[in-house]
Amino acid sequence: MLNTTSAHLLYSLTYPIAYNIVKSIIVAIDGTSSTGKSSIAKLLAQKIDYTYIDTGAMYRAVTLLALQNNVFHSDGSIDEPLLQELLKKARIVFCNNSETGHSDMYLNGENVEKQIRTMEVSSHVSPVAAISWVRDELVAQQRAMGKNGGIVMDGRDIGTVVFPEAEMKVFMTASPEIRAQRRFKELQEKGIPATYEEILQNVRERDYLDSHRAVSPLKQAHDAYLLDNSDMTFEQEMDILIKIFNEKVS
Ligand code: DC
Repeated sequence: MLNTTSAHLLYSLTYPIAYNIVKSIIVAIDGTSSTGKSSIAKLLAQKIDYTYIDTGAMYRAVTLLALQNNVFHSDGSIDEPLLQELLKKARIVFCNNSETGHSDMYLNGENVEKQIRTMEVSSHVSPVAAISWVRDELVAQQRAMGKNGGIVMDGRDIGTVVFPEAEMKVFMTASPEIRAQRRFKELQEKGIPATYEEILQNVRERDYLDSHRAVSPLKQAHDAYLLDNSDMTFEQEMDILIKIFNEKVS
């Protein structure tokens, strides 16, 4: 098993980067849930020395805020005025974790990186992400974070809504079964309880809700590269991303 440093070194050797980089571009990585977007986007950012921004974590943090404050009614509907009040006062920020070298999500001063990945948050996030004023608020923050380029941002609407002018766009997908299997493994490794069946159901539900909502539905941008990684290794995916990146910056 490779540790992070040796894995990083290995990629450095396997995937040469164009050294005459002149542009600090925006890399938008969108796609269905649990496609491994964040893992590959994080490593790509590290490799090209860009900042990685996980926009899903922002929607998850708002959902956690809603759950912590009983914003969901028993019928599943949301008390929007209450959520709006809470969001106005909330501090949702990324802070660098010196141990992992990655950014962790903080909600009102507390590291909630683990809490936002639970099944409870996963099963409540879609209706929160479908509220237009929540999206307006988070999209404004995402644009401010990425305005100078030099970022790899992953989400659902980065190439279509947040940065339609992004120089590099990738749309990632894989079969629901493969995605559920990967997510199951990831949660097991993190010690977060969940069964494969409930994850598969959640993946299917979120696909439907994310792509059928009225505001910024999940869809492939016309100029995005479609990457179906069902039968690909991580190295093959990285190879493709680095090739596209090199073309865009050289
Ligand atoms: O990438 P993720 O699974 O952590 O995202 C959590 C949810 O947030 C997902 O179900 C859809 C929503 N989301 C969104 O609507 N727009 C984004 N840019 C990112 C995530």
